[in-house]
Amino acid sequence: MAEILGLGVTHSPLLLGSDARMAGITERVLQSPGLPNRMRDPANWPLGMQAEWAEHLAGRAAPAHRSRALDGFRRARAALDAFDPDFVVIFGDDQYENFREDGVAPFCVFALDEVESRPYHRSGAANAWGEPADTVVRTKGHPAGGRYLAGALVEQGFDMTWAYRMRHEHGLPHAFINAMLLLDYDRRGLPWPVVPFHVNCYGSSTISKKGAFAHIEGTGSEIPDPPGPTAARCFGVGAATARALASSPWRVALIASSSWSHSFLTGKNHYLWPDLDSDRIRLEELRDGRLSGWKDFSAAQLEDAGQQELLNWVCLAGAMDALGRKPGFVDMAETYIYAAPKVFAVFNPPMAKTAE
Ligand SMILES: [Fe+2]
Repeated sequence: MAEILGLGVTHSPLLLGSDARMAGITERVLQSPGLPNRMRDPANWPLGMQAEWAEHLAGRAAPAHRSRALDGFRRARAALDAFDPDFVVIFGDDQYENFREDGVAPFCVFALDEVESRPYHRSGAANAWGEPADTVVRTKGHPAGGRYLAGALVEQGFDMTWAYRMRHEHGLPHAFINAMLLLDYDRRGLPWPVVPFHVNCYGSSTISKKGAFAHIEGTGSEIPDPPGPTAARCFGVGAATARALASSPWRVALIASSSWSHSFLTGKNHYLWPDLDSDRIRLEELRDGRLSGWKDFSAAQLEDAGQQELLNWVCLAGAMDALGRKPGFVDMAETYIYAAPKVFAVFNPPMAKTAE
């Protein structure tokens, strides 16, 4: 009988690496040519950021941040284990991986047989598990579930792009493979087939910032790309996904994969720290289950807060709102210096086996 579990997690690449490299993005921004010189001096940063930086230099902040995030992953993983879905659907963004100059879809459902990924190929640096840089991860897809979902969304008025294979040369893009690696942090294996659900979160910076980092290096284009889907459309496609899966034969875990405000997307903070104030407001809305307002975010509002990737969570919010669900577990590991706060949520189905 159909049932749906909702989860929200991060896919932060920084958690895949070592504690010693966790401030790598901040260090990169500090070297960037566009940063005003006065912002290279920690004395001009927010007080909370200065304190966290001091803790980082003392070697304490990174392990504490990782520990808080891993608590969130273990809560999400426990819910997955208890629910034991037939497959998982992951809402995730693409940062110049599968979608490039030859075509950018607003949404895309992947009905894959199997996909091979090389998750450490991009960074090449040591990872948190000491696994070889050329490690290949094989992931089973759920082609019947992917085809069904794409078709059911078309029937509900969403002209859905679908695909049977990845174009990305390293397999699953970061939003999918990183979330899976982190949900399996204790390396017990992740036995469930996956239907990746691409969301073009980056909109105007998809190509112009090539993965949303070219502007830091001073190599991006000033010409914005056409926008991605609106928050209203993401909320709607999430609701339609929930309706489709609720009348399917399957038990499905719906996972939003992303952090919220990103330092390197927050222009008003010189791309140096995230918009924590905005994230805290969103967190209270999530905690209270006040999700219906998330369809009203404008692209300008999300870009101002560096919250482009929040659109993955807006899809999940639409699904949970359609099901009348509130989260049982919510947590946010705040940070100024590790690129983005990491948010976690578990929306168990009624009468779930697991206690939250
Ligand atoms: Fe991302």
